[in-house]
Amino acid sequence: MSLHSNVRRVTTHVLLAMKLKGEKIAMLTGYDYSFARLLDQAGIDVILVGDSASNVMAGYETTLPITLDNMIYHAASVVRATSRALVVVDLPFGTYQGNSMEALASAIRIMKETGASAIKLEGGKEIVESVERILSAGIPVMGHLGLTPQSIHKFGTYVVRATDKEEAQKLKDDALALAKAGCFGIVLEKIPAKLAGEVTREISIPTIGIGAGSEVDGQVLVLHDMLGITQEFSPRFLRRYHNLQMEVKGAVQNYIEDVRSQNFPNEKEQY
Ligand code: KIV
Repeated sequence: MSLHSNVRRVTTHVLLAMKLKGEKIAMLTGYDYSFARLLDQAGIDVILVGDSASNVMAGYETTLPITLDNMIYHAASVVRATSRALVVVDLPFGTYQGNSMEALASAIRIMKETGASAIKLEGGKEIVESVERILSAGIPVMGHLGLTPQSIHKFGTYVVRATDKEEAQKLKDDALALAKAGCFGIVLEKIPAKLAGEVTREISIPTIGIGAGSEVDGQVLVLHDMLGITQEFSPRFLRRYHNLQMEVKGAVQNYIEDVRSQNFPNEKEQY
């Protein structure tokens, strides 16, 4: 019997058991009540309240501007919609890099004010002290390595990371350090598939890939990208499962036409 079809509530322990059993983990981002409800009902394992909300919900160019208050608003909405999926929330840029006490305070606000089950932060060895402090308060932590969008101004571009030997070795060392510190999982973003496979086999916690090939323990995509709501963003790793932007525009155009032609409301649609 598969684990994912058998659990009432996905926990970090379930994810670990899924890795051990070789069952793939399905994760998507979610930012609001209505979509999160659909994701949960569809059986998604993990909903990540990603700081990509900064892009897809608020229209900023990067993930940097979104605030902790914004993230709490999105996360609380997602938690209210969820009865089965594990809800993980990104700590936004500037709320954990200062020192481990700041990181703990931010993580506690997320847990207290949203009801989520875990937090995620970007970085390797340099954030291990923060990871340990957050874990010491009983808060599960997910790591994020490879292309870490909060560092976009350092990278200068969104190209594939860790293609050279030195960066690949650093990524492996960082993954081991995060696993040793006690993270329950690590997102691997936009790195070579071979490297992601090696990391996945070397560490005992689940890896969730986005643009990291198939040899990882699970996959994550940004909801608005996979549903075809966003239009400009088309990286190689993105599979669009729908063309929702076309359907929404079509429905809205039909509505406009009906209002203008007085075809809406009809006799049955009034009191
Ligand atoms: O914020 C986000 O959506 C993410 C995913 C890309 C993993 O961190």
